[in-house]
Amino acid sequence: MTSKMPMPGELDPIETASRDEISALQIERLKWSLRHTYDNVEPYRKKCLEKGVHPDDLTCLADLAKFPFMTKMDLRDNYPFGLFAVPRTKLARLHASSGTTGKSVVVGYTKNDIDNWANVVARSIRAAGGRAGDMVHVAYGYGMFTGGLGAHYGVERLGCTAVPMSGGQTEKQVQQIMDFKPEIIMVTPSYSLVIAEEFERLGIKPEEISLKVGIFGAEPWGEGMRGEIERKLGIDAIDIYGLTEVMGPGVACECIETKDGPVIWEDHFYPEIINPETGEVVADGEEGELVFTSLTKEAFPVIRYRTRDLTRLLPPTSRSFRRIGKITGRSDDMLIVRGVNVFPTQIEEQILRDQRLAGTYQILLTRDGHLDNVEIRCELQHALSGKLPASDIQAISKELQHRIKTIVGISTRITVMEHDSIPRTLTGKAKRVLDERPKQN
Ligand code: DLL
Repeated sequence: MTSKMPMPGELDPIETASRDEISALQIERLKWSLRHTYDNVEPYRKKCLEKGVHPDDLTCLADLAKFPFMTKMDLRDNYPFGLFAVPRTKLARLHASSGTTGKSVVVGYTKNDIDNWANVVARSIRAAGGRAGDMVHVAYGYGMFTGGLGAHYGVERLGCTAVPMSGGQTEKQVQQIMDFKPEIIMVTPSYSLVIAEEFERLGIKPEEISLKVGIFGAEPWGEGMRGEIERKLGIDAIDIYGLTEVMGPGVACECIETKDGPVIWEDHFYPEIINPETGEVVADGEEGELVFTSLTKEAFPVIRYRTRDLTRLLPPTSRSFRRIGKITGRSDDMLIVRGVNVFPTQIEEQILRDQRLAGTYQILLTRDGHLDNVEIRCELQHALSGKLPASDIQAISKELQHRIKTIVGISTRITVMEHDSIPRTLTGKAKRVLDERPKQN
Protein backbone atom coordinates (compact mmCIF):
# COMPACT_ATOMS: atom_id res chain seq x y z
CA MET A 1 0.00 0.00 0.00
CA THR A 2 1.28 3.42 -0.89
CA SER A 3 0.40 6.69 0.86
CA LYS A 4 -3.20 7.83 1.34
CA MET A 5 -3.01 10.90 -0.89
CA PRO A 6 -3.07 10.28 -4.64
CA MET A 7 0.14 11.34 -6.38
CA PRO A 8 -0.05 13.93 -9.18
CA GLY A 9 -0.88 12.19 -12.45
CA GLU A 10 -2.36 9.17 -10.71
CA LEU A 11 -5.97 10.27 -11.12
CA ASP A 12 -8.00 10.42 -14.33
CA PRO A 13 -7.83 14.09 -15.46
CA ILE A 14 -11.63 14.42 -15.22
CA GLU A 15 -11.50 13.64 -11.47
CA THR A 16 -9.85 17.02 -10.87
CA ALA A 17 -11.36 18.97 -13.81
CA SER A 18 -13.27 22.25 -13.39
CA ARG A 19 -17.06 22.26 -13.05
CA ASP A 20 -17.32 23.83 -16.52
CA GLU A 21 -15.31 21.02 -18.04
CA ILE A 22 -17.40 18.41 -16.24
CA SER A 23 -20.69 20.05 -17.30
CA ALA A 24 -19.51 20.30 -20.91
CA LEU A 25 -18.69 16.59 -20.98
CA GLN A 26 -21.96 15.73 -19.25
CA ILE A 27 -24.14 17.65 -21.70
CA GLU A 28 -22.38 16.14 -24.68
CA ARG A 29 -22.76 12.62 -23.29
CA LEU A 30 -26.30 13.24 -22.09
CA LYS A 31 -27.40 14.26 -25.59
CA TRP A 32 -25.91 11.04 -26.94
CA SER A 33 -27.49 8.88 -24.23
CA LEU A 34 -30.96 10.39 -24.65
CA ARG A 35 -30.83 10.05 -28.42
CA HIS A 36 -29.50 6.48 -28.19
CA THR A 37 -32.30 5.51 -25.79
CA TYR A 38 -35.02 7.29 -27.74
CA ASP A 39 -33.95 5.68 -31.00
CA ASN A 40 -33.47 2.15 -29.66
CA VAL A 41 -35.72 1.60 -26.64
CA GLU A 42 -39.29 1.62 -27.82
CA PRO A 43 -41.02 1.71 -24.39
CA TYR A 44 -39.03 4.81 -23.43
CA ARG A 45 -39.72 6.50 -26.78
CA LYS A 46 -43.41 5.90 -26.13
CA LYS A 47 -43.16 7.61 -22.74
CA CYS A 48 -41.44 10.61 -24.37
CA LEU A 49 -44.12 10.84 -27.04
CA GLU A 50 -46.84 10.72 -24.40
CA LYS A 51 -45.13 13.55 -22.51
CA GLY A 52 -44.50 15.50 -25.72
CA VAL A 53 -40.72 15.66 -25.32
CA HIS A 54 -37.98 14.85 -27.81
CA PRO A 55 -34.16 14.52 -27.36
CA ASP A 56 -33.77 17.76 -29.38
CA ASP A 57 -35.49 19.59 -26.47
CA LEU A 58 -32.40 19.08 -24.33
CA THR A 59 -30.06 22.03 -24.64
CA CYS A 60 -28.76 22.28 -21.04
CA LEU A 61 -28.45 19.87 -18.12
CA ALA A 62 -31.52 21.36 -16.38
CA ASP A 63 -33.66 20.38 -19.39
CA LEU A 64 -33.34 16.76 -18.29
CA ALA A 65 -36.11 17.46 -15.75
CA LYS A 66 -38.61 17.59 -18.66
CA PHE A 67 -38.02 13.92 -19.49
CA PRO A 68 -39.97 10.95 -18.11
CA PHE A 69 -38.59 8.73 -15.35
CA MET A 70 -37.71 5.07 -15.64
CA THR A 71 -38.69 2.81 -12.74
CA LYS A 72 -38.33 -0.79 -11.59
CA MET A 73 -41.88 -1.28 -12.90
CA ASP A 74 -40.63 -0.50 -16.44
CA LEU A 75 -38.04 -3.26 -16.05
CA ARG A 76 -40.70 -5.66 -14.82
CA ASP A 77 -43.11 -4.79 -17.63
CA ASN A 78 -40.41 -5.30 -20.25
CA TYR A 79 -38.82 -8.43 -18.76
CA PRO A 80 -36.35 -9.75 -19.71
CA PHE A 81 -34.75 -7.76 -22.53
CA GLY A 82 -37.38 -5.18 -23.59
CA LEU A 83 -35.41 -2.11 -22.48
CA PHE A 84 -32.13 -3.11 -24.10
CA ALA A 85 -30.84 -0.69 -26.72
CA VAL A 86 -28.64 -3.12 -28.64
CA PRO A 87 -29.36 -6.47 -30.33
CA ARG A 88 -29.06 -9.50 -28.05
CA THR A 89 -25.98 -10.70 -29.93
CA LYS A 90 -24.06 -7.55 -28.89
CA LEU A 91 -24.39 -8.36 -25.18
CA ALA A 92 -21.24 -9.46 -23.43
CA ARG A 93 -22.92 -10.22 -20.10
CA LEU A 94 -26.18 -10.27 -18.15
CA HIS A 95 -26.74 -9.59 -14.46
CA ALA A 96 -29.93 -9.53 -12.40
CA SER A 97 -31.36 -8.26 -9.14
CA SER A 98 -34.60 -8.64 -7.21
CA GLY A 99 -37.84 -7.57 -8.77
CA THR A 100 -40.95 -6.89 -6.73
CA THR A 101 -42.20 -10.41 -7.57
CA GLY A 102 -40.68 -13.79 -8.49
CA LYS A 103 -39.14 -12.53 -11.69
CA SER A 104 -35.91 -10.63 -11.22
CA VAL A 105 -34.92 -7.53 -13.15
CA VAL A 106 -32.37 -8.28 -15.84
CA VAL A 107 -29.68 -5.92 -17.11
CA GLY A 108 -27.20 -6.28 -19.96
CA TYR A 109 -23.75 -4.95 -20.85
CA THR A 110 -21.83 -4.63 -24.11
CA LYS A 111 -18.07 -5.13 -24.15
CA ASN A 112 -17.66 -1.33 -23.92
CA ASP A 113 -20.02 -1.21 -20.94
CA ILE A 114 -17.96 -3.86 -19.12
CA ASP A 115 -14.86 -1.83 -19.95
CA ASN A 116 -16.32 1.39 -18.52
CA TRP A 117 -17.54 -0.49 -15.46
CA ALA A 118 -14.07 -1.94 -14.83
CA ASN A 119 -12.68 1.60 -15.12
CA VAL A 120 -15.05 3.12 -12.56
CA VAL A 121 -14.47 0.26 -10.13
CA ALA A 122 -10.68 0.61 -10.60
CA ARG A 123 -11.09 4.33 -9.93
CA SER A 124 -13.11 3.47 -6.80
CA ILE A 125 -10.44 1.10 -5.46
CA ARG A 126 -7.80 3.77 -6.13
CA ALA A 127 -9.95 6.36 -4.29
CA ALA A 128 -10.08 3.89 -1.38
CA GLY A 129 -6.28 3.85 -1.30
CA GLY A 130 -5.57 0.80 -3.46
CA ARG A 131 -2.72 0.78 -5.98
CA ALA A 132 -1.43 -1.58 -8.68
CA GLY A 133 0.26 -4.54 -7.06
CA ASP A 134 -2.10 -4.75 -4.07
CA MET A 135 -3.93 -7.99 -3.45
CA VAL A 136 -7.72 -7.72 -3.13
CA HIS A 137 -9.83 -10.37 -1.41
CA VAL A 138 -13.29 -10.18 -3.04
CA ALA A 139 -15.96 -11.58 -0.71
CA TYR A 140 -19.00 -10.14 -2.51
CA GLY A 141 -21.08 -12.92 -4.05
CA TYR A 142 -20.13 -13.96 -7.58
CA GLY A 143 -22.99 -14.82 -9.94
CA MET A 144 -26.02 -12.86 -11.11
CA PHE A 145 -25.39 -10.34 -8.28
CA THR A 146 -23.19 -7.54 -9.61
CA GLY A 147 -20.98 -7.37 -6.49
CA GLY A 148 -18.47 -10.17 -7.14
CA LEU A 149 -17.77 -9.86 -10.85
CA GLY A 150 -18.14 -6.06 -10.78
CA ALA A 151 -15.46 -5.75 -8.11
CA HIS A 152 -13.31 -8.41 -9.78
CA TYR A 153 -12.96 -6.65 -13.13
CA GLY A 154 -12.07 -3.39 -11.38
CA VAL A 155 -9.41 -5.13 -9.29
CA GLU A 156 -7.78 -6.54 -12.41
CA ARG A 157 -8.12 -3.25 -14.29
CA LEU A 158 -6.19 -1.37 -11.60
CA GLY A 159 -3.39 -3.92 -11.87
CA CYS A 160 -4.13 -5.59 -8.55
CA THR A 161 -4.30 -9.32 -7.78
CA ALA A 162 -7.88 -10.58 -7.45
CA VAL A 163 -8.79 -13.33 -4.98
CA PRO A 164 -12.29 -14.33 -6.13
CA MET A 165 -13.42 -15.83 -2.81
CA SER A 166 -17.15 -14.92 -3.07
CA GLY A 167 -19.39 -15.00 0.05
CA GLY A 168 -19.77 -17.62 2.78
CA GLN A 169 -17.36 -20.21 4.25
CA THR A 170 -16.20 -17.83 6.95
CA GLU A 171 -13.44 -20.09 8.28
CA LYS A 172 -11.95 -20.42 4.84
CA GLN A 173 -12.17 -16.64 4.31
CA VAL A 174 -10.09 -16.12 7.43
CA GLN A 175 -7.59 -18.85 6.60
CA GLN A 176 -7.06 -17.43 3.13
CA ILE A 177 -6.60 -13.90 4.41
CA MET A 178 -3.96 -15.17 6.86
CA ASP A 179 -2.19 -17.25 4.18
CA PHE A 180 -2.32 -14.91 1.16
CA LYS A 181 -2.00 -11.60 3.09
CA PRO A 182 -4.21 -9.33 0.94
CA GLU A 183 -4.07 -5.56 1.57
CA ILE A 184 -7.71 -4.94 0.63
CA ILE A 185 -11.05 -6.67 1.22
CA MET A 186 -14.29 -5.97 -0.68
CA VAL A 187 -17.36 -7.31 1.14
CA THR A 188 -20.69 -6.24 2.64
CA PRO A 189 -20.18 -4.37 5.94
CA SER A 190 -22.29 -6.84 7.92
CA TYR A 191 -20.35 -9.86 6.65
CA SER A 192 -17.04 -8.12 7.38
CA LEU A 193 -18.03 -8.16 11.05
CA VAL A 194 -18.73 -11.89 10.88
CA ILE A 195 -15.23 -12.35 9.46
CA ALA A 196 -13.85 -10.07 12.18
CA GLU A 197 -15.51 -12.21 14.84
CA GLU A 198 -13.91 -15.33 13.42
CA PHE A 199 -10.51 -13.62 13.72
CA GLU A 200 -11.34 -12.77 17.32
CA ARG A 201 -12.42 -16.35 18.03
CA LEU A 202 -9.08 -17.58 16.77
CA GLY A 203 -7.26 -15.07 18.99
CA ILE A 204 -5.84 -13.18 15.99
CA LYS A 205 -5.35 -9.47 16.77
CA PRO A 206 -6.10 -6.65 14.29
CA GLU A 207 -2.38 -5.84 13.98
CA GLU A 208 -1.67 -9.43 12.90
CA ILE A 209 -4.10 -9.15 9.96
CA SER A 210 -2.55 -7.97 6.66
CA LEU A 211 -5.64 -5.97 5.59
CA LYS A 212 -5.27 -2.17 5.39
CA VAL A 213 -8.49 -1.14 3.62
CA GLY A 214 -12.02 -2.49 3.29
CA ILE A 215 -14.42 -1.35 0.55
CA PHE A 216 -17.95 -1.89 1.79
CA GLY A 217 -21.39 -1.51 0.23
CA ALA A 218 -24.54 -3.22 -1.08
CA GLU A 219 -26.44 -2.35 2.11
CA PRO A 220 -26.85 0.69 4.37
CA TRP A 221 -24.27 1.20 7.13
CA GLY A 222 -23.41 4.13 9.34
CA GLU A 223 -20.55 5.81 11.18
CA GLY A 224 -21.07 3.55 14.21
CA MET A 225 -20.49 0.48 12.10
CA ARG A 226 -17.53 2.13 10.36
CA GLY A 227 -15.85 2.65 13.74
CA GLU A 228 -16.51 -0.92 14.80
CA ILE A 229 -15.17 -2.44 11.56
CA GLU A 230 -12.07 -0.22 11.59
CA ARG A 231 -11.32 -1.16 15.19
CA LYS A 232 -11.90 -4.88 14.83
CA LEU A 233 -9.98 -5.36 11.58
CA GLY A 234 -7.43 -2.55 11.99
CA ILE A 235 -8.31 -1.01 8.60
CA ASP A 236 -9.74 2.08 6.91
CA ALA A 237 -13.38 1.33 6.02
CA ILE A 238 -14.55 2.95 2.76
CA ASP A 239 -18.13 3.23 1.44
CA ILE A 240 -18.88 2.10 -2.13
CA TYR A 241 -22.33 2.59 -3.64
CA GLY A 242 -24.06 1.23 -6.69
CA LEU A 243 -27.09 -0.59 -8.03
CA THR A 244 -27.65 -3.20 -10.70
CA GLU A 245 -29.95 -1.10 -12.87
CA VAL A 246 -27.40 1.72 -13.16
CA MET A 247 -24.30 -0.55 -13.45
CA GLY A 248 -23.44 -2.36 -10.19
CA PRO A 249 -20.83 -1.41 -7.57
CA GLY A 250 -18.75 1.64 -8.44
CA VAL A 251 -21.39 4.23 -9.33
CA ALA A 252 -19.87 6.19 -6.43
CA CYS A 253 -17.09 5.57 -3.91
CA GLU A 254 -15.55 7.37 -0.96
CA CYS A 255 -12.00 8.69 -0.94
CA ILE A 256 -9.73 7.49 1.86
CA GLU A 257 -8.33 10.96 2.50
CA THR A 258 -11.72 12.42 3.47
CA LYS A 259 -14.18 9.54 4.13
CA ASP A 260 -17.01 11.99 3.70
CA GLY A 261 -19.50 10.17 1.48
CA PRO A 262 -19.20 8.38 -1.88
CA VAL A 263 -17.99 10.54 -4.79
CA ILE A 264 -20.31 10.05 -7.78
CA TRP A 265 -18.40 9.25 -10.97
CA GLU A 266 -20.32 12.01 -12.67
CA ASP A 267 -18.65 11.54 -16.04
CA HIS A 268 -20.65 8.28 -16.36
CA PHE A 269 -23.69 8.75 -14.10
CA TYR A 270 -25.63 12.01 -13.90
CA PRO A 271 -27.40 12.43 -10.54
CA GLU A 272 -30.57 14.29 -9.58
CA ILE A 273 -32.47 14.39 -6.29
CA ILE A 274 -36.24 14.54 -6.53
CA ASN A 275 -39.11 14.88 -4.15
CA PRO A 276 -40.39 11.27 -4.18
CA GLU A 277 -44.02 12.40 -3.95
CA THR A 278 -44.12 15.08 -6.63
CA GLY A 279 -41.18 14.07 -8.83
CA GLU A 280 -39.88 17.68 -8.76
CA VAL A 281 -36.10 18.16 -8.73
CA VAL A 282 -34.86 19.59 -5.41
CA ALA A 283 -31.72 21.65 -4.78
CA ASP A 284 -28.34 20.09 -3.91
CA GLY A 285 -28.12 19.55 -0.16
CA GLU A 286 -31.82 18.76 0.21
CA GLU A 287 -32.90 15.24 1.08
CA GLY A 288 -34.94 13.29 -1.47
CA GLU A 289 -34.82 10.33 -3.84
CA LEU A 290 -31.69 9.73 -5.87
CA VAL A 291 -32.22 9.51 -9.64
CA PHE A 292 -29.55 8.51 -12.17
CA THR A 293 -29.12 8.95 -15.90
CA SER A 294 -26.38 6.89 -17.53
CA LEU A 295 -24.11 8.91 -19.83
CA THR A 296 -22.10 6.19 -21.56
CA LYS A 297 -24.03 2.92 -21.29
CA GLU A 298 -24.81 1.17 -24.57
CA ALA A 299 -26.75 -2.02 -23.80
CA PHE A 300 -29.01 -0.85 -21.02
CA PRO A 301 -29.09 2.94 -20.85
CA VAL A 302 -31.15 4.42 -18.05
CA ILE A 303 -32.76 7.85 -18.23
CA ARG A 304 -33.82 9.35 -14.91
CA TYR A 305 -33.91 5.96 -13.19
CA ARG A 306 -35.58 6.22 -9.80
CA THR A 307 -33.30 4.37 -7.37
CA ARG A 308 -35.77 4.76 -4.45
CA ASP A 309 -32.73 5.46 -2.25
CA LEU A 310 -33.18 8.53 -0.04
CA THR A 311 -30.14 10.78 0.37
CA ARG A 312 -28.63 14.21 -0.46
CA LEU A 313 -26.16 15.54 -3.01
CA LEU A 314 -23.12 17.09 -1.33
CA PRO A 315 -20.54 19.52 -2.80
CA PRO A 316 -17.18 18.24 -4.09
CA THR A 317 -14.24 17.83 -1.67
CA SER A 318 -11.38 15.47 -2.53
CA ARG A 319 -12.45 15.18 -6.20
CA SER A 320 -14.25 17.60 -8.53
CA PHE A 321 -17.41 15.48 -8.54
CA ARG A 322 -20.34 15.79 -6.15
CA ARG A 323 -20.87 13.24 -3.38
CA ILE A 324 -23.87 11.44 -1.92
CA GLY A 325 -24.64 11.47 1.78
CA LYS A 326 -25.48 8.29 3.65
CA ILE A 327 -28.50 6.42 2.29
CA THR A 328 -31.07 7.20 4.98
CA GLY A 329 -33.91 4.99 3.73
CA ARG A 330 -36.00 4.00 0.75
CA SER A 331 -39.09 5.47 -0.88
CA ASP A 332 -40.43 1.95 -1.50
CA ASP A 333 -40.76 -1.10 0.72
CA MET A 334 -37.59 -2.92 -0.39
CA LEU A 335 -35.68 -4.54 2.48
CA ILE A 336 -32.01 -5.45 2.44
CA VAL A 337 -31.45 -8.65 4.40
CA ARG A 338 -27.82 -9.76 4.75
CA GLY A 339 -27.05 -7.82 1.57
CA VAL A 340 -29.91 -9.45 -0.40
CA ASN A 341 -32.65 -7.19 -1.71
CA VAL A 342 -36.11 -8.43 -0.79
CA PHE A 343 -39.56 -7.08 -1.53
CA PRO A 344 -42.39 -8.15 0.81
CA THR A 345 -44.45 -9.00 -2.29
CA GLN A 346 -41.88 -11.68 -3.24
CA ILE A 347 -42.52 -13.39 0.10
CA GLU A 348 -46.26 -12.87 -0.20
CA GLU A 349 -46.22 -14.58 -3.58
CA GLN A 350 -44.72 -17.72 -2.02
CA ILE A 351 -47.20 -17.72 0.89
CA LEU A 352 -50.14 -17.42 -1.50
CA ARG A 353 -48.97 -20.45 -3.45
CA ASP A 354 -49.96 -22.63 -0.48
CA GLN A 355 -53.75 -23.10 -0.49
CA ARG A 356 -53.69 -24.04 3.18
CA LEU A 357 -52.45 -20.59 4.20
CA ALA A 358 -54.49 -17.40 4.42
CA GLY A 359 -53.09 -14.26 2.80
CA THR A 360 -52.31 -12.55 6.11
CA TYR A 361 -48.65 -12.52 7.05
CA GLN A 362 -46.01 -10.58 8.92
CA ILE A 363 -42.27 -10.29 8.32
CA LEU A 364 -40.28 -9.73 11.50
CA LEU A 365 -36.69 -8.53 11.09
CA THR A 366 -34.29 -8.63 14.02
CA ARG A 367 -30.52 -8.55 14.33
CA ASP A 368 -28.64 -11.29 16.10
CA GLY A 369 -25.10 -10.07 16.65
CA HIS A 370 -24.20 -8.64 13.23
CA LEU A 371 -26.55 -10.63 11.07
CA ASP A 372 -30.17 -10.11 10.17
CA ASN A 373 -32.76 -12.71 11.15
CA VAL A 374 -36.09 -13.04 9.40
CA GLU A 375 -39.18 -14.62 10.88
CA ILE A 376 -42.24 -15.03 8.74
CA ARG A 377 -45.51 -15.39 10.54
CA CYS A 378 -48.44 -16.65 8.54
CA GLU A 379 -51.91 -17.95 9.30
CA LEU A 380 -53.86 -21.07 8.40
CA GLN A 381 -57.05 -20.74 6.36
CA HIS A 382 -60.10 -20.33 8.59
CA ALA A 383 -61.49 -23.77 7.63
CA LEU A 384 -58.28 -25.54 8.66
CA SER A 385 -57.55 -23.56 11.79
CA GLY A 386 -57.25 -25.80 14.86
CA LYS A 387 -57.78 -28.92 12.76
CA LEU A 388 -54.31 -29.81 11.48
CA PRO A 389 -51.91 -32.12 13.31
CA ALA A 390 -48.52 -30.67 14.27
CA SER A 391 -46.81 -32.77 11.59
CA ASP A 392 -48.86 -31.05 8.83
CA ILE A 393 -48.04 -27.63 10.22
CA GLN A 394 -44.38 -28.54 10.28
CA ALA A 395 -44.57 -29.69 6.68
CA ILE A 396 -46.19 -26.39 5.62
CA SER A 397 -43.38 -24.46 7.35
CA LYS A 398 -40.65 -26.53 5.77
CA GLU A 399 -42.08 -26.20 2.25
CA LEU A 400 -42.48 -22.44 2.57
CA GLN A 401 -39.02 -22.02 4.04
CA HIS A 402 -37.55 -24.01 1.16
CA ARG A 403 -39.42 -22.03 -1.50
CA ILE A 404 -38.38 -18.69 -0.03
CA LYS A 405 -34.77 -19.85 0.22
CA THR A 406 -34.58 -21.11 -3.36
CA ILE A 407 -36.69 -18.41 -5.05
CA VAL A 408 -36.19 -15.25 -2.98
CA GLY A 409 -32.72 -16.22 -1.75
CA ILE A 410 -32.95 -15.71 2.02
CA SER A 411 -33.07 -18.05 5.02
CA THR A 412 -36.12 -17.58 7.22
CA ARG A 413 -37.83 -19.02 10.25
CA ILE A 414 -41.49 -19.74 9.55
CA THR A 415 -44.21 -19.62 12.20
CA VAL A 416 -47.56 -20.99 11.09
CA MET A 417 -50.29 -19.65 13.35
CA GLU A 418 -54.00 -20.25 13.81
CA HIS A 419 -56.40 -18.06 11.86
CA ASP A 420 -56.73 -14.48 13.14
CA SER A 421 -53.59 -14.61 15.33
CA ILE A 422 -51.80 -11.72 13.63
CA PRO A 423 -53.09 -8.42 15.02
CA ARG A 424 -55.00 -6.29 12.51
CA THR A 425 -54.95 -2.49 12.60
CA LEU A 426 -58.08 -0.37 12.70
CA THR A 427 -58.41 -0.61 8.94
CA GLY A 428 -58.33 -4.40 9.25
CA LYS A 429 -54.92 -4.66 7.63
CA ALA A 430 -52.03 -6.38 9.35
CA LYS A 431 -48.77 -4.47 9.51
CA ARG A 432 -46.70 -6.41 7.00
CA VAL A 433 -43.17 -5.62 8.08
CA LEU A 434 -41.86 -5.17 11.61
CA ASP A 435 -38.27 -4.04 11.28
CA GLU A 436 -36.74 -4.21 14.74
CA ARG A 437 -33.13 -4.05 13.58
CA PRO A 438 -31.15 -1.25 15.21
CA LYS A 439 -31.11 1.80 12.96
CA GLN A 440 -27.78 2.66 11.31
CA ASN A 441 -26.57 6.13 12.23
O1 DLL B 1 -25.83 -3.86 -4.15
C1 DLL B 1 -24.38 -3.27 -5.99
C2 DLL B 1 -23.24 -3.20 -5.04
C3 DLL B 1 -22.46 -4.32 -4.82
C4 DLL B 1 -22.91 -2.00 -4.43
C5 DLL B 1 -21.38 -4.25 -3.98
C6 DLL B 1 -21.82 -1.91 -3.60
C7 DLL B 1 -21.05 -3.04 -3.37
P1 DLL B 1 -28.21 -4.15 -5.94
O2 DLL B 1 -28.21 -5.55 -5.46
O3 DLL B 1 -28.97 -3.82 -7.17
O4 DLL B 1 -26.74 -3.69 -6.23
O5 DLL B 1 -28.71 -3.26 -4.73
C8 DLL B 1 -28.72 -1.87 -4.87
O6 DLL B 1 -28.39 -1.59 -2.49
O7 DLL B 1 -30.26 0.80 -4.36
C9 DLL B 1 -29.13 0.62 -2.18
O8 DLL B 1 -30.42 0.55 -1.63
C10 DLL B 1 -28.27 -0.49 -1.60
N1 DLL B 1 -26.86 -0.08 -1.52
C11 DLL B 1 -25.86 -0.37 -2.36
N2 DLL B 1 -24.70 0.18 -1.92
C12 DLL B 1 -25.00 0.86 -0.78
C13 DLL B 1 -24.25 1.65 0.14
C14 DLL B 1 -25.70 -3.65 -5.33
N3 DLL B 1 -22.95 1.85 0.02
C15 DLL B 1 -29.23 -1.23 -3.61
N4 DLL B 1 -24.93 2.21 1.18
C16 DLL B 1 -29.16 0.28 -3.66
C17 DLL B 1 -26.24 2.01 1.34
C18 DLL B 1 -26.38 0.69 -0.54
N5 DLL B 1 -26.99 1.26 0.52
